[in-house]
Amino acid sequence: MPDLKDKSIVITGAAGGIGAAIALALAADGARITVADLSQAAADQVTSRITAAGGKAIAVAVDVRERAQVRAMLDRAVEAFGRLDVLFNNAGVAQTRPFLDITEEDWRFITDVNALGVLIGMQEAIKTFRSQGGGGKIVNTASIAGKQGYEPLAHYCASKFGVVAMTQAAARAFGKEGITANCFCPGVVATPMWDTIDKGFRDSGLTQKQNEAFDTFAAGAVLGRASRPDDLVGVARYLASADSDFMTGQSLMVDGGMVFV
Ligand SMILES: NC(=O)c1ccc[n+]([C@@H]2O[C@H](COP(=O)([O-])OP(=O)(O)OC[C@H]3O[C@@H](n4cnc5c(N)ncnc54)[C@H](O)[C@@H]3O)[C@@H](O)[C@H]2O)c1
Repeated sequence: MPDLKDKSIVITGAAGGIGAAIALALAADGARITVADLSQAAADQVTSRITAAGGKAIAVAVDVRERAQVRAMLDRAVEAFGRLDVLFNNAGVAQTRPFLDITEEDWRFITDVNALGVLIGMQEAIKTFRSQGGGGKIVNTASIAGKQGYEPLAHYCASKFGVVAMTQAAARAFGKEGITANCFCPGVVATPMWDTIDKGFRDSGLTQKQNEAFDTFAAGAVLGRASRPDDLVGVARYLASADSDFMTGQSLMVDGGMVFV
């Protein structure tokens, strides 16, 4: 089992879905978790579950698009836990839009959170890592949509290709300082995000029944089922731990076998 005891780990989008699963699991491993999300109340709930189970966590409200808030989030983590070891840039939003219907507003909404938010998170974390004398890990949540373009998710896919690109660029830029950047790529995970995507398919007339889009996409996984948030815990634990120290710039597909790269 990788040793995460007392590591200070910040996770954005940790109030629900994949982020909450990772926060709860790494806290159980002994890491000290900063649960960061848009809503303080929702972040508080995950933090309460962690502390009730004997773990250490604080909750911070953050909008990852806002640099000052991201800076404050990382400073809070350092204040509470003495340092920053790992940042998970996991917060994200999705939207279903037929290709010709994507507006400038849609594009900005998706890319501001999923791509600009990750850039800001990486930049501010790297400043903290440098102030600590170097070393540190960035783990970004990309997607199978960071490897393939899917209709009608073109703007979402563009944002996730961006996450993969920024991960590679940061790996090249900061490797000599012992700072690594990697990402993992989930497939079709049963979270509130997929409720939004599935509804978007129905609203666009592309599917008729609830979960039809979800089931159709999930059927592409050779392991024979959709993912659950817990399916991403193993890769998160690995990328946060010293076991992945000699790996950087990589995108790990954890999708039940949907996309082979
Ligand atoms: N669910 C999937 O099938 C799937 C597949 C591939 C990748 N992903 C990625 O996994 C990550 C987590 O998604 P999820 O499925 O758990 O979705 P989710 O909707 O359950 O969780 C996303 C979290 O991000 C938070 N968030 C949204 N905008 C934010 C902002 N501006 N600032 C801070 N927090 C914000 C939300 O409040 C929410 O708690 C996302 O980056 C998503 O793109 C999900």
